[in-house]
Amino acid sequence: MAFSDAFLEELSARADIVDLVSRHVELKKQGGRLVGLCPFHSEKTPSFSVSPDKQLFYCFGCGAGGGAIQFAMRMENLPFADAVRALADRAGLTIPEEASDREAMERRETLYRLNREAARFFHQNLKGPGGAKARDYLQKRNLSPAAVTHFGLGFAPDDWDGLLKAMTAAGFAKADLLSAGLVVAGKTGSLYDRFRGRLIFPIIDLRKRVVGFGGRVLDDSLPKYLNSPDTPVFSKSQNLFALFLAKNTKQGRLILAEGYMDVVSLHQAGFDCAVASLGTALTPQQAMLMAKYTREVVISYDMDAAGQKAAARAIGILEQAGVSIRVLRMKGAKDPDEYIGRFGREAFAALLTGAETQTEYRLSALAGQHDLTADEGRLNFCREAALMLAAIPSNAERDIFTVRAAELSRVAPDALKSDVRRARARLGKQAGRDAARKAARPEQALQPADRALRYENTHSASAEEGLLQMVFADPALLTEAAELVCPEDFSAPLLGKLFAFALAHPDDPGLAFAAGAFAPEELSHLARLIHKPSDVAAGPQAVRDCAGIIRDESGLRRAVAEGADPLLIYRQSRRESIQ
Ligand code: CTP
Ligand code: MN
Repeated sequence: MAFSDAFLEELSARADIVDLVSRHVELKKQGGRLVGLCPFHSEKTPSFSVSPDKQLFYCFGCGAGGGAIQFAMRMENLPFADAVRALADRAGLTIPEEASDREAMERRETLYRLNREAARFFHQNLKGPGGAKARDYLQKRNLSPAAVTHFGLGFAPDDWDGLLKAMTAAGFAKADLLSAGLVVAGKTGSLYDRFRGRLIFPIIDLRKRVVGFGGRVLDDSLPKYLNSPDTPVFSKSQNLFALFLAKNTKQGRLILAEGYMDVVSLHQAGFDCAVASLGTALTPQQAMLMAKYTREVVISYDMDAAGQKAAARAIGILEQAGVSIRVLRMKGAKDPDEYIGRFGREAFAALLTGAETQTEYRLSALAGQHDLTADEGRLNFCREAALMLAAIPSNAERDIFTVRAAELSRVAPDALKSDVRRARARLGKQAGRDAARKAARPEQALQPADRALRYENTHSASAEEGLLQMVFADPALLTEAAELVCPEDFSAPLLGKLFAFALAHPDDPGLAFAAGAFAPEELSHLARLIHKPSDVAAGPQAVRDCAGIIRDESGLRRAVAEGADPLLIYRQSRRESIQ
């Protein structure tokens, strides 16, 4: 059974060995590794060791060892292919069409060969008489001949079929050129080169095969960059530019930049740990790939709004991959290439050591958005900072940055700490994380007896229940409520449905109980709810309070669902409620 290397690489990046082994062996931390009793032979003192860094296991007792696949093979007594399938299944990966067809493999081999030849062709062309213009351009951009060789940069001739002719002459079929994305078919079916008159950046995978190309114009014409499309050997979302070089860095981190030029000039300046996502937003696979080679990623995206937005997204994705993250902020230049050109490598190195942790970064970004000299600005900053700080899992880190935020806004640290605690309690419930703590706390909401109707978010549900109790008791309050929330904001579908019903029958919401709109188990819960004695003083203010909670929670929920920064959504919902 032949699985593609790319697939096996991705599988080992995704199937975390610690996770896998922990299902069978109780592991304890010991230095940089984890140890436990070997599952493959019987022993009383642990000689079985797992290295999370290398994603390998080894038993000093019986000599069993290998990666995740070997562990699954031995543990489950599976042949290789079945172990791969089992792991893929668990990791939620679909196995690319199992290439039992030797043919498909051979075709891919051909594409690798073709890409390599094409890269050579572009490179020769850059060095030859046809490359004068491009060499001038490179000089203007301060790229040395050594860097050009190191990255195998090239130049695509400025005509329609330079590459097409050269590659067909070398024996490659037009069909292969098409499927490698090197040529394009025009309307009439005639073929022409995709890359013309462009500086060429070969994209090379971890096994040093040329899988695709990026091409930059030499002037200001558009599009500035052109990239290979996805092909049988190239998937944009699963490759990082220059990772094949950066993975060998001794610098203990990876720098994630936006562009080809940034990476080349970073390497040229000695930062051999730089990579770039390929003209697209960072994908989880790319983050996972980085996590395989490093513990720390320093995001160094462009300083414009788009770059900063992309950085915020990348933080979330890298967090999921379990690497520590810092963000680099440059003043006086828009990207690392420009920064190094303007201020030199030492300056960049200083920036790098001083790069903010993601928390510092977010906190200072937040501070920048508020006027901290005005009370209102301080207040808003504190509200949003509390939300952000509440999401930090480490107690120590949360504490440190809560104090920092308090200093920034000149607020008593204890006051902010208690806000953070409150926000954290809500967030914990929201994400369904702290299940144990949640269970220990008395629920205010009246959980329905029917399991299927159980509330997921009891904080929101109790506000929803409170609101409903009030409008059922006093339909006049319905108008107020209708202006503030809609049924979709409700976290509990049953309560949302009841609210929708009340809105549809403003004069007599109690009709719900006769209208047959609800199932018997729903009705029995609603009846209990409506008759539950309420300890809040009903009135417009109480309606507003409940509505506020419901909306905040639904904003958070949306944020969590979309993977966006909860802060943004929170702020948006606040803004709407002010209007
Ligand atoms: N990009 C792309 N297509 C475009 C523009 C950009 O694929 N039309 C990708 C490229 O990978 C590029 C990266 O996005 O390297 C960043 O774009 P940009 O910041 O505009 O380019 P730089 O790398 O800074 O290039 P240069 O300094 O040469 O302008
Ligand atoms: Mn640039």
